[in-house]
Amino acid sequence: MSVTEQPSGDSPGPAAADAAQDALHDRIAADSLTTRRDYLRIVATVSGGLAAGGIGVAAGILHRHGDSDGAPEPKKIADRLLPGESLAFRYPEQEDRAVAIRLDDGTLAGYSAVCTHLACAVLWRKDRGGEGELYCPCHEGVFDARTGEVTAGPPPRPLPKVLLVEEADGSVWAVGTTRSGESVQEGLCRQLGEERPDLAERLDCPALSARGPRARSERT
Ligand code: FES
Repeated sequence: MSVTEQPSGDSPGPAAADAAQDALHDRIAADSLTTRRDYLRIVATVSGGLAAGGIGVAAGILHRHGDSDGAPEPKKIADRLLPGESLAFRYPEQEDRAVAIRLDDGTLAGYSAVCTHLACAVLWRKDRGGEGELYCPCHEGVFDARTGEVTAGPPPRPLPKVLLVEEADGSVWAVGTTRSGESVQEGLCRQLGEERPDLAERLDCPALSARGPRARSERT
């Protein structure tokens, strides 16, 4: 599997990310209590920054744009998405516009396609910038394809992320969302802490780690 959140400048290299991904995969897969749904949601993956080891874990126990109650269901959005291709889809609800892009280097990324300025539709423009840009034609707003950060124009906040997972058969699934400006780790840990403290603990979410082993042992 591969993931949506992109590495920042100080992220670990591909080898470290792969090793961490494998370790996480094994740890979760080995847990007989992990359901298929949790597996799909958690395995998503790795590249942006869990505190421990500097590794990020993409996952889906995240609310609709991070704001509503209830975790969105995983949704298959494509049988395949090849480098240079993009896809407009709706997630987590039918009224929620979103866009998936596969950059030429294979990176898979997903975002809300609702501009954070005045909610116009954000479009993927492969012809703009060095490797394409997310572009809002209403007031010339521009967002970075790898991070969703604002690079030009009036939008006040980054695009919320839609977390994408690529299965072994090449199919692409949307498994969750984050708030604008929230990292995958932050969104994951915030909601895991509320809904699945057992999973949050396994993923070393900082808030739980800060409570120490006694707090953790009290839940067992
Ligand atoms: Fe997108 Fe204004 S609505 S830049």
